Amino acid sequence: MPSFQIDETISQLYNSIAEQYGTPSYVYHEFQLEKNLSALKNLFKNLPVNWLYAMKANDNPFLLKIISLAGFGFDTVSFEEVLLASKFTTGRKIFYTENNMTDVEMHAAIKAGITLNIGSLTRLKKFAEAAPNSECSIRIKPDIGDGHHSKVVTGNMDSKFGIRIDKIEEAVRLAKEHNVKITGIHAHIGSGIKQPQNLLNAIEKMLELALLVPDLKSVNFGGGLPIPYKLDENSFNLEEFEAITSPMLKKFLAHHPDVKFMFEPGRFIIGNAGVLLAQVNTVKDQGNKTYLGTDTGFNHLVRPVMYEAYHHIENVTRFDSKEKALYEIAGNICESGDIFASDRELAVTKENDLIAFRDTGAYGMTMASPYNRRAFPAEILIEKDGTYQQIRKRETAEEMIEDLLKKTGFTF
Ligand code: LLP
Repeated sequence: MPSFQIDETISQLYNSIAEQYGTPSYVYHEFQLEKNLSALKNLFKNLPVNWLYAMKANDNPFLLKIISLAGFGFDTVSFEEVLLASKFTTGRKIFYTENNMTDVEMHAAIKAGITLNIGSLTRLKKFAEAAPNSECSIRIKPDIGDGHHSKVVTGNMDSKFGIRIDKIEEAVRLAKEHNVKITGIHAHIGSGIKQPQNLLNAIEKMLELALLVPDLKSVNFGGGLPIPYKLDENSFNLEEFEAITSPMLKKFLAHHPDVKFMFEPGRFIIGNAGVLLAQVNTVKDQGNKTYLGTDTGFNHLVRPVMYEAYHHIENVTRFDSKEKALYEIAGNICESGDIFASDRELAVTKENDLIAFRDTGAYGMTMASPYNRRAFPAEILIEKDGTYQQIRKRETAEEMIEDLLKKTGFTF
């Protein structure tokens, strides 16, 4: 069930945002973001648990500032993300999980003084040679995977990610040869976890594997906390998760009192705080199907096409209408697959109506592309007092083309 109702107040707010800044626009609710942040911060109160935000979910600097001020560090997966994170926090709170990194990226990461989380033995060797007498974390492949779609399951047996369990001791030896200490172990089993038991099993397994690492200071259990996208889906039960996990963590701490634990969710923090507002500009009866054509497409929200992901879609203009119809909800990209939803029930919709794609705060804007050479959406932040500000300006068509010419270096 999406986190808040589109009622008259929100409908008016979205309408005035659309009037002022146009569509398509990603709109974020600060109150919801803060609610998510404090729900997490309130867990594991008396345990050494540090929270990181997986900034790949949404890296708008205005949002990063709110998240950083709430005490969260950053989980990063590229040197570009490291650079962005370092504008908000110190290297100590930046965790960089590499994945097929280059030597150039590795040297830059070493210089940046962040915690590098290494996912292969060959990279570990290169790191140990390049930075003797230092520390790092290693990513483990726990052979437990989960996720809302096969493309986002990461901890499974055949995954490309992480170091095999039976290679952990070799990793420790290899590091030691260069006086490098492996001080952290990490696993991320996947995104949008469907069976919480898999996460619990992975936590248990990681705590066992931790015993193989003599210089251990931290165990990072990754992200993946799911959010409900459909009306009949329940929220992830944080209290139950805490109740089951805490005893495991406490038991471990009894023998290793200096170890810290980390989680690094992205979707859970920002997913339900965002909507994509778009306008229906074409209502077309194609015989068997009626299409609602919108002014956005998979260039702005790729999740439905890429993962068959469900986003609840609501008619903001007619939020209280009881008259419903079934629609194909289509984008404006020149591909027949550019469909957000099929046979979707929506209030009977007219051209120029405003619609909202719910729960698109995570992996919406960060996965947007300039395909079909269309400009990127604007982003708006609704603050806690109900006022709003633009946190990313809409690019004009002219700016988009100027930018292309500038970046390619093309001259006439
Ligand atoms: N940590 C690592 C190492 C990750 O690779 C990810 C996500 C996270 C944490 C955060 O996962 P979260 O808590 O957000 O589930 N584009 C896909 C999701 C890809 C996730 C990639 N890694 C989607 O739209 O569903």
